Amino acid sequence: MSREVHIIDHPLVQHKLTLMRKKDTSTKSFRELVHEVSALLAYELTRDMPMQEIEIETPLETTKSRVIDGKKIVLASILRAGNGFLDGMLQIIPGARVGHIGLYRDPETLQAVEYYFKMPQDMHERDVIVLDPMLATGNSAVAAVDRLKQTNPRSIRFVCLVTCPQGIKTFHDAHPDVPVYTPAVDRGLNEHGYIVPGLGDAGDRIFGTK
Ligand code: URA
Repeated sequence: MSREVHIIDHPLVQHKLTLMRKKDTSTKSFRELVHEVSALLAYELTRDMPMQEIEIETPLETTKSRVIDGKKIVLASILRAGNGFLDGMLQIIPGARVGHIGLYRDPETLQAVEYYFKMPQDMHERDVIVLDPMLATGNSAVAAVDRLKQTNPRSIRFVCLVTCPQGIKTFHDAHPDVPVYTPAVDRGLNEHGYIVPGLGDAGDRIFGTK
């Protein structure tokens, strides 16, 4: 399958996202909501992870039981807003490794420029979940996944809180093999590249920097 978009329509996720969209939601509440939503997203994102059967001993007998196959999952956070997803996701996937991708937009060329990139070892044996709350123009997501693919991971998924048709198109034109998981596909982008209706600047709302 290619150009997959998974809409996470669970009532709890949708309810919490509505609260996050409200402009009067405080930094404290926004942060708590990101934490709660990201745990719920992690549950959906890992639904079809490959599994393997291993032999274990219960207090009563030896049996076969299933565990997630391969090396630990990697949560790859696109700085800085991606970090907002980490605590909630790590609550559900506590053994996950965490990678970071730092990109900024060159004001002259408008191209994404990498300033930081750190992933765990053995990426070819790992499944990666790329974290960025807003898939807006799609440019930084494309650049992040371009760079990530150089490490040759076993699989890549992309998760956000809100996206829009342009963001999905740009992303899937470059990376049709990477499924996008999102609770919401909004109307579009405004002239500043913000998603509308959206929720504003996710980084500022998580970190209280506005
Ligand atoms: N980044 C954000 O934080 N919000 C948007 O709406 C678009 C990009």
